[in-house]
Amino acid sequence: MSDHSTPESASVELLAKGKRYYVPVYQPREMILDHGLGSRVWDLDGREYVDFGAGIAVNALGHQAPELVEALVTQAHKLWHTSNVYYSEPPLRLAEELVEASGFAERVFLCNSGTEANEAAIKLIRRWATAQGRPPSKRDIVTFQGSFHGRTLAAVTATAQPKYQQGYEPLPGGFRYCAFSDFDAIEALMDDGVAAILVEPIQGEGGVQPTTPGFLRHLRELCDRHGALLVLDEIQCGMGRTGKLFAHEWEQVTPDIVTLAKALGCGMPIGAMLVGNKAAEVMQYGAHGSTFGGNPLAAAVARVALARLRSPELMTNVERQAHALRAGLERINAETNLFTEIRGRGLMIGAELVDAYKGRAGEILDHAQQHGLLVLQAGPNVLRFVPALNIDDATIADGLQKLRAALRVFHK
Ligand SMILES: Cc1ncc(COP(=O)(O)O)c(C=O)c1O
Repeated sequence: MSDHSTPESASVELLAKGKRYYVPVYQPREMILDHGLGSRVWDLDGREYVDFGAGIAVNALGHQAPELVEALVTQAHKLWHTSNVYYSEPPLRLAEELVEASGFAERVFLCNSGTEANEAAIKLIRRWATAQGRPPSKRDIVTFQGSFHGRTLAAVTATAQPKYQQGYEPLPGGFRYCAFSDFDAIEALMDDGVAAILVEPIQGEGGVQPTTPGFLRHLRELCDRHGALLVLDEIQCGMGRTGKLFAHEWEQVTPDIVTLAKALGCGMPIGAMLVGNKAAEVMQYGAHGSTFGGNPLAAAVARVALARLRSPELMTNVERQAHALRAGLERINAETNLFTEIRGRGLMIGAELVDAYKGRAGEILDHAQQHGLLVLQAGPNVLRFVPALNIDDATIADGLQKLRAALRVFHK
C-alpha cells in the first residue's frame, strides 16, 4: 500500500476533471472513491477506509447490501420508469408500507430528494392554510436557527442559517425564525398567523443538536393551541438512525407531516412526504408533481430498505454500536481533551471541539483520511459520526483506533 498523502496518476487525472468541469459548489476530498463493501470503501488507488459517514447518513445498510442490490437488479430487468401518468407496483407498495410503518400518515408523496420532500411540505402547508380560509399574511412557517432543510429557494429560506441564503435574495416570504429548543422563544413567536412549525428532531447540519427533552411535545401542544401543523424533517435523523424508525417516537409525538429521504433509499435517490389526516386531502389533482418521483427503481430498493430499517434486530445493533462508538469517543477524549461534548442519539453522534480547536474539524477529517477513516463534520466545530446501521463490532473498533491515531497526530 502506498503513502496516504498523495493520490496516484489515475486519481490525479480525474481530480483535475472535477476542478475543470464541475460548477464548483462542492469541495470534495482529494480522492476518488471506487467501490465499497459493508462499512468499508476503497479509493481508485487501492486505499481502504472505514466508513463512519455512510455518504451523509445515507448508506444505512452499508455498501453493496446484497438484498438491495438484488432488488435493484430485479427491478432494472422489469421496468425503470413509467412517469406518473401510469402506476407501477413498487411505489404503490412502498406508499402503503410507509403509511403502515408511520402509525400516523394517511397519504404519501414520493419525490427524489430531501429538499423536494420539504418543498412539497412547504407547498402543502400553504395549500392547507389557504383551504382554511387564512389570508396570505396568516400562512407563516416557523423554523429554527441552525436548521437545514435543503437547497431550493423555499428550502433555503426555511433553513434559518444566513450562510445558505446570502446572495439569493429576494427570498420567499412567510417564514419566521426561532431560537432552537427555546421554550420561551417559541411561545412568544406563536400566534394565529403561524400555519406550521417545521423542525428537525435532531439538527444534523446544524451540529448534531438534539431537541431538548419535551420540546417536540411542547411544539405539538402549541400547534394544537394555535391551529397550526407540526412538520418534522426526519431526512437525516429518521429511518432507524436513532434506534427507532422515526426520531419522534422517542417523545411519542404525533406529527402532521414527516419528510424523509437519505436512508429511505439507502443510496438510491428517493424522498417522501408523509401526511396525516389533517392535511392529507388538501393537495388534489394538479397541485404538485414530479417526473421521476416514485420511480420504480428507487421504490423497489426503498421497500427492501424500509423492511430492514424497521427490524428489531437492526435497532438492537444501532443501540449496541452507538454505545461502543460513544464509549470509544469518551475514551479518546479522556486522553486528548479535544471535545467539550459528545452528543446525539443512536448512530447520529456529534463531538464538539473545545474552544482551543474551534474551526478545525476539517483538519481532523484530513488526518482521519490519512489514517484510513472517513468521518464527517457538521459545521467547523463538530465531528459527525453517522455510520451504516448494520456496522459490526470489529469495524467500529477499527474505526475508533484509526480515529485515535489520527487525533494523536492532530493533537501534536
Ligand atoms: C435534515 C435535512 N433536511 C433536508 C436535507 C436536504 O436533503 P437533500 O440533500 O437530499 O436535498 C438534508 C440534507 O442534508 C437534511 O439533513
